[in-house]
Amino acid sequence: MIKKGIILAGGLGTRMSPITKSVNKQLLPIYDKPLIYYPLSILMLAGIREVLIIVNKGQVNQFRKILKNGENFGIKIQYKEQQKPNGLPEAFIIGEKFINNNNVALILGDNFFYAQSLTKTLQKTSKLKNGAKVFLHPVSNPKLYGIATIKNKKIVSLKEKPSLTRSNLAVTGLYFFDKNAVKLSKTLKPSKRNELEIIDLLNKYRKKNKLNAEFLGRGGAWLDAGSIDDYYDTTSFVSAIQKRQGFKIACLEEIALKKKWINKKVILESIKFYGNCDYSRYLKKLIF
Ligand code: DAU
Repeated sequence: MIKKGIILAGGLGTRMSPITKSVNKQLLPIYDKPLIYYPLSILMLAGIREVLIIVNKGQVNQFRKILKNGENFGIKIQYKEQQKPNGLPEAFIIGEKFINNNNVALILGDNFFYAQSLTKTLQKTSKLKNGAKVFLHPVSNPKLYGIATIKNKKIVSLKEKPSLTRSNLAVTGLYFFDKNAVKLSKTLKPSKRNELEIIDLLNKYRKKNKLNAEFLGRGGAWLDAGSIDDYYDTTSFVSAIQKRQGFKIACLEEIALKKKWINKKVILESIKFYGNCDYSRYLKKLIF
């Protein structure tokens, strides 16, 4: 079982400036909760209770104010700073001590997932022992993402933001790795955009035949709230689903309660912490 997960929640947020000049993007609202609740909910649904959140220099307190040490969600959260956005695999180098020679999941702080049977798929994937696993999803603009080419359900090539490709299968920002991720990340060289590339790390696994793919079905949604348009699309999506179904997406306390990681008393503390708001009223309904 993978017990540890990292959320990479730094980055310059340049594409959303000036909104992100003084506030980290991952703390901005996606409809009724901060963006970071969504990737954190994915790790929790995968059964992960030890989480490292990597943030920009000087921003730990902003995150700690809302997520604290994770106790309210029945998990343990640690924080580390990234000096500058040197690339996604740097998460494994920064997190080496936290990973402590274990397998690990990585999710990007601005990635949003919603799909049928996602919880089942996550639970299955978290049993990974060797190699690495990625989640693929079709996109209409493959030039913006890491793209996988598939033959007989196997990944035969991986390219970061290809200018020409016949595949439309994006590698989403959720990855499961065996413990070798740390060692292999240290051997990576910066790319043309002067970053360590996750695609280069994944290619190392692929070349050893140790990379597998999971497909988020056609009915699933994957959004990377990276640009203004994607950001508002994600907010509209959450608003539409929640209003229609009456359930909240990524209510961390609800996930923890269902998993019996917390009890009613902890939910009452959360209600007190959040104060008089719609989120608190939803929490109240869960316990009365
Ligand atoms: O969203 C999925 C895509 O994410 C993948 O398809 C690509 O293969 C992968 O390289 C990545 O592409 P982007 O170019 O869109 O990544 P971006 O630089 O926007 O960073 C993604 C998130 O990670 C963003 O919230 C900022 C954060 N980040 C990024 C870097 C490079 C960090 O916290 N630290 C970093 O060093």
